[in-house]
Amino acid sequence: MSVKAPIPPSPSEDDYVRQVTSAEPPPLLSETDPFALFSDWLTEALAKEPNDANAMALATVDESGLPDVRMVLLKEADERGFVFYTNLESAKGRQLAGDPKAALLFHWKSLRRQVRVRGPVSPVSAAEADAYWATRARPAQLGGWASDQSRPLPDRMALEKRIAEVGLKFGLGKVPRPAHWSGFRLAPSSLEFWRDRPFRLHERLVFERAQGGWTTKRLFP
Ligand SMILES: Cc1cc2nc3c(=O)[nH]c(=O)nc-3n(C[C@H](O)[C@H](O)[C@H](O)COP(=O)(O)O)c2cc1C
Repeated sequence: MSVKAPIPPSPSEDDYVRQVTSAEPPPLLSETDPFALFSDWLTEALAKEPNDANAMALATVDESGLPDVRMVLLKEADERGFVFYTNLESAKGRQLAGDPKAALLFHWKSLRRQVRVRGPVSPVSAAEADAYWATRARPAQLGGWASDQSRPLPDRMALEKRIAEVGLKFGLGKVPRPAHWSGFRLAPSSLEFWRDRPFRLHERLVFERAQGGWTTKRLFP
């Protein structure tokens, strides 16, 4: 198989010259607090990326140790970690129940930056999940009830039927959070901030959790 659209070639020498003559990037906001730096980069991404700047790839492993990866949306980030919500009976939900560790990747294409995060994962509290659930639009809440996420769907009609059924079930009343729907928090043991620099001499800054704080190191690109 080959893709029909041509995959862009590597940068030419002219491209490199153009990059080198472009402005120096601003200094990093913080080299001691990864959350301050992440918040700075996400804020910039939210202002510049056309879609879903809070989207991140979530990597887990299945029971045979085979990695799996998919996009989810970051819903909260602070010193405690990075939170996302999902169906607990989905593939990712089951994988995290079996092996509660994961990696996250943000790639902001228009900023030419990526952030990698790794660490243990734990469920958010029921109160947190309820609070986030309450902010979801009603159709998304109905979808949370109707979708057996990651399990086989015979045809599109079966999903539409489920949506209609749960719509009737809850009528005009409040839609409660299903027991199978909640969130996870990844508490980072390490974070890596990467940004594009000329000649592919990219900048990499790694934070690793240490007693009472973080150690930092730079890596060859
Ligand atoms: C940009 C984007 C954001 C997504 N956000 C979520 C999310 O926050 N939660 C979720 O369960 N699925 C989300 N999905 C769908 C997942 O990528 C995936 O298809 C689904 O969760 C099933 O994954 P699994 O079978 O590995 O559990 C998103 C997909 C995209 C492309």
